[in-house]
Amino acid sequence: MHKNEGFSSKLGFVLAAAGSAVGLGNIWRFPYLTAKYGGGIFLLTYLILVLTFGYALLIAENAIGRMTRKGPIGAFRELCAGKKSFLGSVRVGGWINAVVPLLILPYYCVIGGWVTKYVFAMMCNPVARFHKDAIESYAGLKMNASAAYFQNFITDPWQAVGFFLLFVVVIVAVAAFGVEKGVERFNKILMPILILLIIAICIYCMFLPNSGAGFRYYLMPDPSKFSYMTVVAAMGQLFFSLSIAMGIMITYGAYMRNEDNLVSSVNQVELFDTGVAFLAGLMIIPSVVAFGGEKAAEQAGVGLVFVTMPQVFASFPGGQFVGAAFFILVLFAAATSAISLLETNVHTISQELKISRAKAIVLNVCEVAVIGVVTILGYSLLSFVQPLNFISRYRGMDILGTLDFISNSVLMPIGAIMTTVLVVGVIGIERICREIRGQNKWYREFVFQFCMCVVVIPCLLIVLLNATGLIG
Ligand code: PFF
Repeated sequence: MHKNEGFSSKLGFVLAAAGSAVGLGNIWRFPYLTAKYGGGIFLLTYLILVLTFGYALLIAENAIGRMTRKGPIGAFRELCAGKKSFLGSVRVGGWINAVVPLLILPYYCVIGGWVTKYVFAMMCNPVARFHKDAIESYAGLKMNASAAYFQNFITDPWQAVGFFLLFVVVIVAVAAFGVEKGVERFNKILMPILILLIIAICIYCMFLPNSGAGFRYYLMPDPSKFSYMTVVAAMGQLFFSLSIAMGIMITYGAYMRNEDNLVSSVNQVELFDTGVAFLAGLMIIPSVVAFGGEKAAEQAGVGLVFVTMPQVFASFPGGQFVGAAFFILVLFAAATSAISLLETNVHTISQELKISRAKAIVLNVCEVAVIGVVTILGYSLLSFVQPLNFISRYRGMDILGTLDFISNSVLMPIGAIMTTVLVVGVIGIERICREIRGQNKWYREFVFQFCMCVVVIPCLLIVLLNATGLIG
């Protein structure tokens, strides 16, 4: 969205915010984290956090944007103006919120490149190639064909860089020609189709042999699988998926009309985003358990959706076309989210460096290209670069994992703590509640107040200390 434009209706806000929120976080990131961190127990932890933390922060950020009509840096600066000592220094929070999307966009585009590749992979390969029993070799080792195909792709720098650049060119072209509105309109049709397709695949998966064990793994929490890492991962996922602690919701709030009901708009975004993530899990996790057992789920990594979904499509006639349609729809969801990340960055860069939008786009693209290519090479030429090797539990983590960890598990909790201090210490809980409530009923006001005043800061501090290996 360009400067000085606003949302012309409440629906406009909800669609734009949901378009930004629903993306790779729901379809790529949520299922693999759920599989890896214990299935049902992760799902339960995530849902509790969304309804408490996620809700409070989502609504607070929108309110901050609407009160100040500014992006994160401007909003923090304005609200902290005149405050001395500690409260004055909270303005750094605006910067932290603004830096996160700069870190996320490059690797988001790397995954966007993977999705682009899989659109072609589905169209150009006989579906039998991905059959769950097919064998192929990767680095001289014989392994499951779908997994080998994925490994061979991400470790081939030319291909991976090529598809990454293709994705970047498309989203930059959309932003440069100012046709985001057109894409959003397209998305209004494509997003429901994606959801219907996911539901249809979920129903199909119910009939896969052994899928019962997978549904149980996903839907029945097993407390013995709970650990600190469940909470750290769920918290990072919550920030990523709801697009919070990265300035975007502050910016969206700034474009919202005063008379629109903030409470119900935020409810809808929260529900929609969580609903899509839940369905994506319901589609992928029973399939991975059906094909490879619970072990395969626990060993899941960033490739889960790319390895498992082709196997699902290979298991029924015509699956190739359904697979291509699936990845095209995911590509759209990814593109709308990437465009909103790019817009946030362009807004920040042009405002802070006082340069034109065009120059800001060029700068951001250069940054994305450099970090993105380094991230891709982390799977091949730069595989020896493992920046977090000094923390024992993150030994061996690749560049993509490191960027993801620093943004989601370190910077976002710090940004969220700053937002909470801003709300409670600077704005005041009464004032922000008045802003949020307006003339409307607000059933979850108590949840908001309790989270903001009591829960968020201590819990986030624990998460942060644990994520960085200082405790736990
Ligand atoms: N929430 C998006 C997703 O789940 O894929 C990612 C994202 C998009 C984060 C846009 C931030 C943002 F500004």
